[in-house]
Amino acid sequence: MTLVDNITKNHFSIDEPIWIAPSGGLLDINFVAKFDLQKIQKSYPNLWRYADAIAIDQSKGIVSFNEGFTPLEPIVIKNKTIYIKHEQLFSTGSYKDRGATTLITKAKQLGISKIVQDSSGNAGCAIAAYAAKAQINCEIFLPENTSDNNISQMQAYGATITKVNGVRKDAANAALNAAKTTYYASHCYNPWFFEGTKTFAFEVCEQLGWQSPDSVILPAGNGTLIIGCYIGFKQLAAAGIINKIPKIIGIQTEVCAPLFYSINNQTPPLPFTNNTLAEGIAIENPPRATQIINAILNTKGTIITVNETEIKLAWKQMALLGNYIEPTSAATIAGVQKYLSNFDSTNELIVSLFSGHGLKSKSLF
Ligand SMILES: Cc1ncc(COP(=O)(O)O)c(C=O)c1O
Repeated sequence: MTLVDNITKNHFSIDEPIWIAPSGGLLDINFVAKFDLQKIQKSYPNLWRYADAIAIDQSKGIVSFNEGFTPLEPIVIKNKTIYIKHEQLFSTGSYKDRGATTLITKAKQLGISKIVQDSSGNAGCAIAAYAAKAQINCEIFLPENTSDNNISQMQAYGATITKVNGVRKDAANAALNAAKTTYYASHCYNPWFFEGTKTFAFEVCEQLGWQSPDSVILPAGNGTLIIGCYIGFKQLAAAGIINKIPKIIGIQTEVCAPLFYSINNQTPPLPFTNNTLAEGIAIENPPRATQIINAILNTKGTIITVNETEIKLAWKQMALLGNYIEPTSAATIAGVQKYLSNFDSTNELIVSLFSGHGLKSKSLF
């Protein structure tokens, strides 16, 4: 098991406290996942039940709130039953806890005492909570316009908040600068985050009776779930547990759709903005853009964009079914609706998710 530089292909020990290669290349984890279905079935229903498929030695202790194994519920949308995973039900209110439990466990096992991170929302909250549990000092760089709710949540977990003049990318640059001397617990760069988000794929397949869906419809911001799912489904296929990898369909907003334009070889008509209800996916320049695009193209998936009216409508429709979700999550559901209207999905088993809890954000009613 090693860390691999995705530019030079050099390998590094997994015991090195690095989050990026010396060449500047992104790191991925080279690891063969194993699945003993009987052992898994007997294990506690959380994401750590896939112990032999997670590249972390659990015997050294994990930082966990018993997270994961979120419900997979059939819901009718546009007259079709699709399966929604309730990822808003994590301790900090979003699926980012999947990546936080693995990343902070690794940091703790490496003996790291201070981390930095940047985020304007859920990833920051998740990292701050798990750092608190691990008693690791945590500093989070935030853009000026971060919502008060998120700041309060991170502060409550004891994180040091540093507000940066400017927007999301300015906060990311400040964190990158701080990361020259401190461990960067980044949800985009740090490969240990994806060890957690990949368990979404494991859970979906197990909950469907160890079969793969035909399509998964996921948010596409920094692609932490898309990349994680792609890794997870590939590992299940390589182990012979599933016989196909689902199409990965990513959802972006019309005002910030860098991946959509890149995949379609088009020039965006206007500069991207983060002026959208779905602020969690308004990422202009995702560091792992190439990996996200590969995951989508290699699975014959696509990117769909949604507008503000569609997001608001999807939010209201979900609320009227009793699901109080974050506007960013509603963008994914608006994307599901568009996929069902514009593509032939008659025979497809489709999985999507509620990615974040509505209690953290303003009501759109
Ligand atoms: C609620 C919610 N949904 C979706 C996303 C998209 O994230 P990613 O593309 O990194 O998986 C975010 C990111 O913060 C989020 O907070």
